[in-house]
Amino acid sequence: MSANSKFKTPSGHALKAQKGQDPIVCLTAYTTPMARLVDKHCDVVLVGDSVGMVLHGFESTLSVTMDMMIMHGQAVRRGVDQALLVVDMPFGSYEHNKEQAFENAAQLMRKTGCEAVKLEGGAHMAETIAYLTQRGIPVMGHIGLTPQSVKAMGGYSVQGRGDDHKRIMEDAKAVEDAGAFAIVLEMVTQPLADEITKLVGVPTIGIGASVNCDGQILVVDDLLGLFSSFKPKFVKRYAELADEADAAIELYAREVRARSFPTDAHVYAAKAKKS
Ligand code: KIV
Repeated sequence: MSANSKFKTPSGHALKAQKGQDPIVCLTAYTTPMARLVDKHCDVVLVGDSVGMVLHGFESTLSVTMDMMIMHGQAVRRGVDQALLVVDMPFGSYEHNKEQAFENAAQLMRKTGCEAVKLEGGAHMAETIAYLTQRGIPVMGHIGLTPQSVKAMGGYSVQGRGDDHKRIMEDAKAVEDAGAFAIVLEMVTQPLADEITKLVGVPTIGIGASVNCDGQILVVDDLLGLFSSFKPKFVKRYAELADEADAAIELYAREVRARSFPTDAHVYAAKAKKS
């Protein structure tokens, strides 16, 4: 089989080799049209469980289910041809024990065709990560602020400013040693993110962490200004699409009420005109 075989797909292994090279570009997507938009610009497309808050209006990611991740994962798979596709394991689908984690991770891979799964947690999840990676499931880790633990953590706060600094360093090492091919660092202080990036041999992917991480990830709806319920400090808005959509919908409503839409250009004559 040649190296250019059609069976060659992006892999966690290849992504790992990108450490120390060009920054790794990652974005979320939850639907086929958005996946098509981000795929050509990204190394990694993540079907994040943030889908629960962004698309389904939940207050946190805790209500997201396996069925939701499978449905959105399948939709995104139809739009991703070249990036590495990662699907989040939802809250409650992997914490019970490593066998439960394997069952659900395998189901996500089988039903969505993703290349890898992501799960939250540091040293306490290392045994599970090792169990999955040793059985052919590539895992992306996620430490620092872990939104699925928001109730236990008491909110979405910056991590690593106090005596949790050492623990987060240990989490990073444990997740790497367990076999994760990359680690998301969420809302950890910049110096801590820099230390972890130097410490571990796998790429760090920052979100509210540091420009020196090996890559960056954002929720695409945040950067496009489509999700406007709240805006964390780490979000940079590259567009204000919610405002544009609002103006367009308002104009449509005005034109319908004024009977200026539809015009002849949008309706059908009894007989087609000859060209
Ligand atoms: O759920 C998500 O979208 C995420 C990231 C943005 C890291 O986990």
